[in-house]
Amino acid sequence: MLNDIATQAHALYGQGKVASYIPALAQVAPRQFGMAVALVDGSCVATGSADTQFSIQSISKLFTFVLALKLLGDAVWQRVGREPSGAAFNSMVQLETEKGIPRNPFINAGALVITDMLTTRFAHLDTALLGALRLLTDCPELNWDMQTAKSERDTAHRNMAMAYFMKSYGNFVNAPELVLDNYCRQCAIEMSCSQLAQATMFLANGGLDIGRVNAVSATGATGSARAGEQFLSADAARRVNALLLTCGAYDAAGDFAYRIGLPVKTGVGGGIVAIAPGVGTVAVWGPELDAKGNSVLGAFALERLVQLTGWSHD
Ligand code: DON
Repeated sequence: MLNDIATQAHALYGQGKVASYIPALAQVAPRQFGMAVALVDGSCVATGSADTQFSIQSISKLFTFVLALKLLGDAVWQRVGREPSGAAFNSMVQLETEKGIPRNPFINAGALVITDMLTTRFAHLDTALLGALRLLTDCPELNWDMQTAKSERDTAHRNMAMAYFMKSYGNFVNAPELVLDNYCRQCAIEMSCSQLAQATMFLANGGLDIGRVNAVSATGATGSARAGEQFLSADAARRVNALLLTCGAYDAAGDFAYRIGLPVKTGVGGGIVAIAPGVGTVAVWGPELDAKGNSVLGAFALERLVQLTGWSHD
């Protein structure tokens, strides 16, 4: 089934554009596609370039939000909202009328506030975040790409402006420069579809990370066995999924819910992760983006998959 979806997805090559506002991302070859499906029974199937690592970009916001929720619980809602913004991921329009409180943790402004919270808690946030991701994927070599982080950091004028703007409202604790360093590093983390599907499995499984029991990658390599752990409470996992459904694709969240109907998180590196609660996780990658910054082939592949399987958020 995944191979058929991939063949159909290839017909969409050329319909989107690789992100270019971060110079390093403009270098990525546009015509690539990968897809991995991990099921709660521990199995994993994949097609195409599912083992090729790419820049996870905004998908990192899902992991930082989960870390903040684990550490701070409901206190996060004092500094960020949980409503869809209906605006572009990098929009700052609502920030003034809403007095420096971003609409949700996934738009850039909200993710910057979450990274500010974590910057207060961790002297080395990149190490803490990578530690969690290495555990979830069983891949000790996971890392962020220095060149991509620098490329974004050198051109992060809008994100820096938003950080200062929020600071003027008292909703930013640390130096914006320091938080931007951490934010650009988290966005520059490189992961493959197989690794992303594995890393988000706890969200499909009531917060329980099942470990890497029976993973088979696109190349046929099997993963090591590891016992699972309760990574997040079941209640918190349910709430994260609700936010992913309503806010995970920014101003395309309604369209994604209509077409795919699953909690998702997208990134301008061309990756999308989708959670099918109780069933499994799906990660897709295609660097060509639509006008709202979401992967054209990725969205198509997810839509085909849910049509063929009947998976839905309920
Ligand atoms: O802050 C930025 O603009 C990027 N590092 C991440 C944006 C992103 O991935 C939006 N997702 N579709």
